[in-house]
Amino acid sequence: NDLDRFITGLPKAELHLHIEGSLEPELMFALARRNRIAIPFRSVEEVRAAYDFSNLQDFLNIYYAGADVLRTEEDFHDLAVAYFDRAAADGVVHAEIFFDPQTHTDRGIPFDVVMRGLLAGMADARARHGLTAKLILCFLRHLDEEAALATFRAAEPWLDYIEGVGLDSSEVGHPPSGFVRVFAAAADAGLRRVAHAGEEGPPAYILEALDLLGIDRLDHGNRALEDPLLTARLAREAMTLTVCPLSNFKLRVVKEMGDHPIDRMLALGLRATINSDDPAYFGGYIADNYRAVAAARGLDRRDLVTLARNSFLGSFLDDGQVSAHL
Ligand code: ADE
Ligand code: ZN
Repeated sequence: NDLDRFITGLPKAELHLHIEGSLEPELMFALARRNRIAIPFRSVEEVRAAYDFSNLQDFLNIYYAGADVLRTEEDFHDLAVAYFDRAAADGVVHAEIFFDPQTHTDRGIPFDVVMRGLLAGMADARARHGLTAKLILCFLRHLDEEAALATFRAAEPWLDYIEGVGLDSSEVGHPPSGFVRVFAAAADAGLRRVAHAGEEGPPAYILEALDLLGIDRLDHGNRALEDPLLTARLAREAMTLTVCPLSNFKLRVVKEMGDHPIDRMLALGLRATINSDDPAYFGGYIADNYRAVAAARGLDRRDLVTLARNSFLGSFLDDGQVSAHL
């Protein structure tokens, strides 16, 4: 219908996308075959049926297992190209994508293999669609800070190609305060900083991400809504929240899409954006996320324009590039 077309046609930036979370079951099978890896599924349907999660950890277990088929530079290239093609079809003109190097280096895949593959995919996206992209290296918070520091050292030769660092994986029990040194090292190297906080973790984790990690952008941030002083601060500081509605529903951060707080966030003056998180696992790409909340919360075109506009304002593009997109 009309609103569907409006959503797809709206130029937008994607700011919260884990490239490993864009691995569709079809590509998982193709890579398993190409790399001669046995996977514990007989069909694409069987894989999709396994994607029924009751919380973040439940999902992460399957997500890390799925990433095992990614072995070569070509695999990372093909993964990235598949995502960028899909994103471009949804009206994404700029994407700042997360990657989880530890998921790969811990399996013996060299950091350089991951980087070369992803960068080649980004170059293809630029050539095919004019889509620009940046990379955000995420540290896995269920591993310790020494491991994050070792990852950061492995990344050092590649820092010209990395826009920023992030913090993801199992949130509860792994607060931002455990990663102060590695985020300080990233800041010293001139990198941007983001962190997942307030997805399952309490508002106190969001405060730590702000005050101890010095984040430039907050990933998820849903649970900020439990603390009025915190939401007031986030609004005052024009902090961008990268909200992921289908993820929130699938990981039971909200019980129903009808309970999604996206409109409450906008009403509080928060710079909320809509993103897809792990689209292959949560049942939709960015336009599906816009559509799902628009339908569930009755968003109108003005709200949708605000959300898309926020995605450029919250991006790490420079001011001139942002203005060109508004
Ligand atoms: N890794 C991939 N998706 C994630 C999410 N939604 N939260 C934390 N870590 C993740
Ligand atoms: Zn995420």
